[in-house]
Amino acid sequence: MSDYVLVTRKFFPETIDFLKERFNVFDNQKDISFDRRQLIDHMRDAIGAQISTSEIVDTDLLDRCKKLRVISNTAVGYDNIDIEACTERGVMVTNTPGVLDETVADYALGLTIAACRQIPRYEMYLRERKWEKSPFTDLLSRDVNGSVFGFMGFGRIGQAIARRAISFRGSVLYHTRNALPRSVEERLSATFVSKQELLEKSDIIILILPHTPETHHFIGEQELSLMKKDAVLVNMARGGIVDDTALVEALEKGSIFSAGLDVYENEPDINPDFFRLRNVVLSPHLGSATIKTRKAMAMKAAVNLAKALDGEIPPDLVNPGCLA
Ligand code: GLV
Repeated sequence: MSDYVLVTRKFFPETIDFLKERFNVFDNQKDISFDRRQLIDHMRDAIGAQISTSEIVDTDLLDRCKKLRVISNTAVGYDNIDIEACTERGVMVTNTPGVLDETVADYALGLTIAACRQIPRYEMYLRERKWEKSPFTDLLSRDVNGSVFGFMGFGRIGQAIARRAISFRGSVLYHTRNALPRSVEERLSATFVSKQELLEKSDIIILILPHTPETHHFIGEQELSLMKKDAVLVNMARGGIVDDTALVEALEKGSIFSAGLDVYENEPDINPDFFRLRNVVLSPHLGSATIKTRKAMAMKAAVNLAKALDGEIPPDLVNPGCLA
């Protein structure tokens, strides 16, 4: 079979046209969900692939798809890809940083407000025709304005959320592996603190860090027990950073006020216990899903793929070690 690139998901027509002008393309504009075997069958002879975070690229797949030269992930996070295995095999991996920061930050703030002010729960109350007289001391929520915002992870997206938090008269704490330059801290009036201090002092904790073996279950039973009783946890990062079973338990016991979640362990088959709870706002991993941003991400990923296959260093190469 002649060389081709595989596009595993439905993307915009202009993305597919861009690729078709340059390569033979096996596209999936019907958005058929490939099971593992189908994915490997379709990828087996591909020289490159534009994928989404739903596709898992591991050693098994790489060993069966020996012609692959580049995997272009249409997302900024890439915990669906075994980077080390790609690097060892000389397979380039690219992602889509920069084009989604503000969009995801908007959504993070929206989810934060929804979880603090319980907007979906209020809507449910109305839809269930329970509104007979306006409650004054029941159905109360918690303020966003003036809160202490604690950021676990403080990269571009975290900082974009912090700018919004400041406009809500919030104060900003952050925890990362290393403190950021003073200029960044001063610009955002942000204070570097330990993980424990952040958990104990924050009113709103926003997770916006990569999912790696080190950050797996970064928030579990012990961390939840350190949070304030009226704290709100927002996960905009990745499933697996939070131990969802422990979070369900904390929400059920009321040991924290609420949570706003865009990501989960084992997506899309999430822990069904979340559906029973009223103090959690659930969103199906769509933080970057505006028309403008998704178009920009899809095209950025296609350009990365094309440049890699044209023998250039793609702009968003994640594993430069693969070139050695
Ligand atoms: C979305 O979750 C992304 O990583 O872009």
